[in-house]
Amino acid sequence: MLRLIDSEKAHSVGVSSLTKIGQTSIGRGILESLYQSPELPTTVFGMPFHHPLGLAAGFDKKAQALSGWPSLGFSWMEYGGITRFPQDGNPKPRMFRANKENALVNRMGFNNPGALAVRESLVDRKSKGQWPNNPIAANIGRSKKVSNDDAPGDYSSTLDILWDYSDFFVLNISSPNTPGLRELQEEEHLSKVLSACNNVRERKGNYKPILLKFSPDMENEQLLNSAETALKSGVDGFVATNTTISRYVPKNSQSRSVFAQTGGLSGRPLKSRSLEVVNLLYDYTESKIPIVGVGGIDSPESAWDMINSGASLIQLYSALVFQGPSVVSHIVKGLKRKVKENNFLNIQEAVGYYHK
Ligand SMILES: Cc1cc2nc3c(=O)[nH]c(=O)nc-3n(C[C@H](O)[C@H](O)[C@H](O)COP(=O)(O)O)c2cc1C
Repeated sequence: MLRLIDSEKAHSVGVSSLTKIGQTSIGRGILESLYQSPELPTTVFGMPFHHPLGLAAGFDKKAQALSGWPSLGFSWMEYGGITRFPQDGNPKPRMFRANKENALVNRMGFNNPGALAVRESLVDRKSKGQWPNNPIAANIGRSKKVSNDDAPGDYSSTLDILWDYSDFFVLNISSPNTPGLRELQEEEHLSKVLSACNNVRERKGNYKPILLKFSPDMENEQLLNSAETALKSGVDGFVATNTTISRYVPKNSQSRSVFAQTGGLSGRPLKSRSLEVVNLLYDYTESKIPIVGVGGIDSPESAWDMINSGASLIQLYSALVFQGPSVVSHIVKGLKRKVKENNFLNIQEAVGYYHK
């Protein structure tokens, strides 16, 4: 039903319903009876996960449905993107579905209530005992009104504000919808952003992993330069990838008009480049730090490919829009089957298997 109405409207109806249903144990129980995923345990960043599949950033921008996502079968969630200052994002419409391609184009532009307001709602949630028992990541973006020169202070303030309300953090320097943001992937800016964030972490005293999310649109050489800078700055992991600005011309006319929209493309067409980036990063890092694979995962096969390419954890967004929540348990069941078929002892043995 949600697929028949405007994309953003459908999205907010979906997230609001999950927020309400996820607040009661009866509601969660009903969802779990429909969507529960099997166990396929793994440990990443020293944290236990029921299985590797999580919710990608951008779906729960305000961290409002955190209690509900595990009942849909996800083992972990990344909320946000959150910016230091509240912002409305780009004018609507700004989210489009290309049904035949199983793809979305969005130019949301980090619409979110800002770090302080999000923290307030999370304080409230924790005090009511509604904090899920699953790993949670916060996705941090740069405020639109802040220049790249001031980006280190902007990212590190948001990190500071949200520190107690996330188990690990993803610095998003790769959204195509904030002008100039992707320039932060260049060495000079990147090392300053990471060093400001490291300073916050040192001050806090309790170590939490900080990850970097890359764009699929960088040349390979540029990508590896950014990875090298990040490794030197002590980054704990990579997320690959964000949405792409590249396009092909689809046969179907509805998809053609969606692909003509400005913004980032996600879903099935992103899969091959995201896999390529994960493979590159895995080779480059020699599996020293974990990689989160995201982009076009919509089946057990695509999830398996991503893990075999080097991803220790995986995420999806678009497949949830096109297939609904049952896609989560379908993928995890398929992964479990593949672990067995390959005579692996656990899912960790499959990570980077294509390289072995
Ligand atoms: C509407 C929309 C909003 C998004 N917002 C964010 C965001 O705020 N931060 C971020 O890092 N990625 C964001 N993403 C990117 C996703 O997290 C993910 O990297 C991308 O969609 C590829 O995964 P998929 O093919 O499974 O959708 C967004 C994607 C969509 C479709």
